[in-house]
Amino acid sequence: MIDAFRDDIARVRAAGLYRELRPTQGRVDTWVEIEGRRALLLCSNNYLGLAGHPALADAAARVAHEYGVGAGASRLISGSLAIHHALEQRLATLKHTTGALLFPSGYQANLGAISALVGHGDAIFSDALNHASIIDGCRLSRAAVHVFPHRDMTALAALLRDAPARRRLIVTDSVFSMDGDHAPLHEICALAADTGAMVMLDEAHATGVFGSSGGGLAEALGVHDGITVHVGTLGKALGCAGAFVAAAPAVIELLVNRARTFIYTTALPPPTVGAVDAALDIVAREPERRATVLTRAATLRAGLEDMGFDVPPGEGPIVPVIAGDSARAMAWSRALLERDVFVQAIRPPTVPDGTARLRVTVMATHTEDDIAHAIEAFASL
Ligand SMILES: Cc1ncc(COP(=O)(O)O)c(C=O)c1O
Repeated sequence: MIDAFRDDIARVRAAGLYRELRPTQGRVDTWVEIEGRRALLLCSNNYLGLAGHPALADAAARVAHEYGVGAGASRLISGSLAIHHALEQRLATLKHTTGALLFPSGYQANLGAISALVGHGDAIFSDALNHASIIDGCRLSRAAVHVFPHRDMTALAALLRDAPARRRLIVTDSVFSMDGDHAPLHEICALAADTGAMVMLDEAHATGVFGSSGGGLAEALGVHDGITVHVGTLGKALGCAGAFVAAAPAVIELLVNRARTFIYTTALPPPTVGAVDAALDIVAREPERRATVLTRAATLRAGLEDMGFDVPPGEGPIVPVIAGDSARAMAWSRALLERDVFVQAIRPPTVPDGTARLRVTVMATHTEDDIAHAIEAFASL
């Protein structure tokens, strides 16, 4: 039996798609130690540089001592702590809604929310480049799934016209995780309003980064009222772990009763709740972090474009550099590490065939010198 697994792995290797874990040493920071060298980290989702922030560590330690390191149970048994409820209230406010519910991860939030809100007899309209957790949530829901080409509003309009259903849910990333481009939210909200569809918006890569208070892209574009279900993550710009759904109280009530990835799992650990609270304080107090990450990313993007790299249009901390072929993406990643820059190659099936890439990501704590170092390293390719 084990031999069959070895055969599977051999096939993955032969396709150039073998993945392996690569440990880094020490604190999560702008520079990390990896494979015996210190390298500039250019592939984390720690966009605001909060994951290693001492205020978050202090808050986590304080809460661990006061409440314990684990919640001890799922939320519906004995694991619903007052601090969970207080954080949910704060996250609801961040998303301009009146309800919110914590999940242990964004993957679980998407899986649980989609499969709880729609089912047999309903229809989902999903962007072709949505995150894997949305794709899996759609599959699990048993609703009819209509995938529209990436950001193609004409196609979405046609699908909405031709696919009647009991409930209709448009679901999209706000900032696309592997491409860094943005969903056309004005158009999506207008189509939803015209056709009576609901909109579920995954702001995993936008929460904390975009918007006047860090609420995300819907806040930045002033369309938050057109969104039925907001998903935000706590493990990316907020530097911790976990996720949440923010929506009207009736949606939250339904999730508490139906979302299996919420019901059948241990509640978010108290130290994480404390650290997220501290992260939200910084998001509110230091808007300059949002401005800096965007400025640094724009500098890097311009530098890479000037050198002739294939960088698809976009704005924000995710700067994809398309290599095309998986072997080429891997070779670029290795060559950059030789120059003390750590960027992972992203290959199919995470991205479509023929679009292997380096998914370069910038942090607010990268200095101008760090960005110059990155550009110099890319020049060597
Ligand atoms: C768009 C999107 N949604 C959801 C997730 C999952 O979030 P988490 O890492 O908290 O499970 C990710 C993570 O990569 C993501 O990119």
